[in-house]
Amino acid sequence: MIRDLLQGKLGFGTAPLGNLYRDVPEKEAIATLDAAWESGIRYFDTAPLYGAGLAEKRLGEALSGKKRDDYVLSTKIGRIILDVMEDSSAGNQGNKGKLYEYGYKNKIINDYSADATLRSIEDSLKRLNTDRIDFVYIHDVAQDAYGDEWISQFETARTGAFRTLTRLREEGVIKGWGLGVNRVEPIEVMLELEEAKPDVSLLAGRYSLLDHEHALQRLMPAAVKNKMDIVVGGPYNSGVLAGGTHFEYQKASPEVLNKVEKIKNIADRHHISIKAAALQFSLANPAVAAVIPGASRPERIAEDTAALHTVIPASFWEEMREQKLVSPYAPLPYDQK
Ligand SMILES: NC(=O)c1ccc[n+]([C@@H]2O[C@H](COP(=O)([O-])OP(=O)(O)OC[C@H]3O[C@@H](n4cnc5c(N)ncnc54)[C@H](OP(=O)(O)O)[C@@H]3O)[C@@H](O)[C@H]2O)c1
Repeated sequence: MIRDLLQGKLGFGTAPLGNLYRDVPEKEAIATLDAAWESGIRYFDTAPLYGAGLAEKRLGEALSGKKRDDYVLSTKIGRIILDVMEDSSAGNQGNKGKLYEYGYKNKIINDYSADATLRSIEDSLKRLNTDRIDFVYIHDVAQDAYGDEWISQFETARTGAFRTLTRLREEGVIKGWGLGVNRVEPIEVMLELEEAKPDVSLLAGRYSLLDHEHALQRLMPAAVKNKMDIVVGGPYNSGVLAGGTHFEYQKASPEVLNKVEKIKNIADRHHISIKAAALQFSLANPAVAAVIPGASRPERIAEDTAALHTVIPASFWEEMREQKLVSPYAPLPYDQK
């Protein structure tokens, strides 16, 4: 399985390094990636969308000089970055609105066809300055990106990207593929297809301490049954669980902040960080191969690695269950001991 290729359960997500939310200075971006490497992280996820190629370029630069066999790399297809520039404050950016308005100004088009899949991979290889990508995720074929039209985008992907990526895997060009999405349903639908045999999917924000009910019911058992690994993206739900203010890439609502505050109070009483609970919760599900928090500041990395190794008392999880802050059915780290 894909998890056997990973050295450790903590990876790094580069969405913030595409200048999500702010104009991250080049030096700070590279220092963040260097800190991840120094801490022993060897799995890096990126995408053309993240700053219209900016995150891929930065990752390529930080990894140049490292031996290619020493790390695992994933990127995504579905968004082609054109040489044409456009005013990113207008809010196209591959239908992600103004999220990456501080990234490169290149125009982005959405395309999940076979040709676009090959072109996207070739373009990513150039930006990443490498000769291979290990896992390829089909990016955002989901409701949050396309509304009801996601089904027709999914159909294009089914007859285009799914088949192309399967062929590339059979030829040994890539080691695995799947979806990279913020919604549970597209992965569930894919797993029901006879023809699709994905190896790994990136589920962002939907198997976190704050939001896991839906994935828990059907997706996670189906992933285990189908021997498809899950990589958990957005373990802090884009920051709010880690002391930030974003939930699902927007300002967090008072309801979300209120729930985070309750969790934080319990964490404080047990002398652990909420980050530790968030990362270890995501990893406790047997479907999950790795968790990939994102960051744009080097100091986050030490927090993340410390969070992974914190010993969390069973009484913390018991209180979380009693207060109905985690599903009674969710596997918890202490259940496994
Ligand atoms: N559709 C998809 O395939 C998809 C969707 C979403 C995510 N992903 C992947 O999953 C990765 C992780 O998701 P994510 O980066 O969106 O969100 P995340 O990991 O849930 O949260 C990252 C954010 O948390 C903030 N943070 C961390 N520690 C903090 C602290 N002590 N105080 C305040 N803020 C703190 C970071 O802020 P700073 O920037 O200030 O460090 C960063 O912006 C992505 O980078 C991407 O690789 C994939």
